[in-house]
Amino acid sequence: MSKVNIAVLIGSLRRDSFNARLAAAVAKLAPAEFTFKVLQIGDLPLYNQDDDANQAAPVKRLKSEITASQGLLFVTPEYNRSIPGVLKNAIDHASRPYGQSAFAGKPAGIIGVSVGAIGTAVAQQHLRNVLAYLDVPTLGQPEVFIQAKEGLFDADGSIGAGSRQFLQGWVDRYVAWVKKNIA
Ligand SMILES: Cc1cc2nc3c(=O)[nH]c(=O)nc-3n(C[C@H](O)[C@H](O)[C@H](O)COP(=O)(O)O)c2cc1C
Repeated sequence: MSKVNIAVLIGSLRRDSFNARLAAAVAKLAPAEFTFKVLQIGDLPLYNQDDDANQAAPVKRLKSEITASQGLLFVTPEYNRSIPGVLKNAIDHASRPYGQSAFAGKPAGIIGVSVGAIGTAVAQQHLRNVLAYLDVPTLGQPEVFIQAKEGLFDADGSIGAGSRQFLQGWVDRYVAWVKKNIA
């Protein structure tokens, strides 16, 4: 099969983000035909509908990267029981102007890590709502709710032994799901 390009959207701009580390570690579990590109969202302006007819260069870049992908991977922390504003801002940008969304039909996976005991469960439900409206089919099971704990990552940045089998299972399902749903 030819290459499958996955656009990765990370909901944290933090330098040592657990979610950025999770995204990198999960990418290592995928087959070689899958390539993962983390999309820059930190330089996007705040969304303003006035600018729809004249989108800024970072917005055009984001949209073209999503359009060029065959699938999406959202890796996000939970902020105040929802998705972080930076991620929502990026989604709003790439969904507009009305009728010219970059997202429609792209199969998506959702994972994330937070410090709370229920991981990113509530944020993920909010994100599923948003993506449903944008006509983005999301992998339902297994759900990935990870609490940030010692040992989550190995010294080389791979998934630690305690979570590796579970996350390998998730990646295997995700890869099959994306292949089945490529538009
Ligand atoms: C504004 C803000 C709100 C937060 N709200 C939640 C929350 O609702 N649930 C939770 O589990 N953790 C919450 N946290 C803690 C995050 O899980 C923690 O900061 C985590 O490290 C963020 O992910 P990152 O390491 O990828 O940046 C919050 C953190 C911030 C800064």
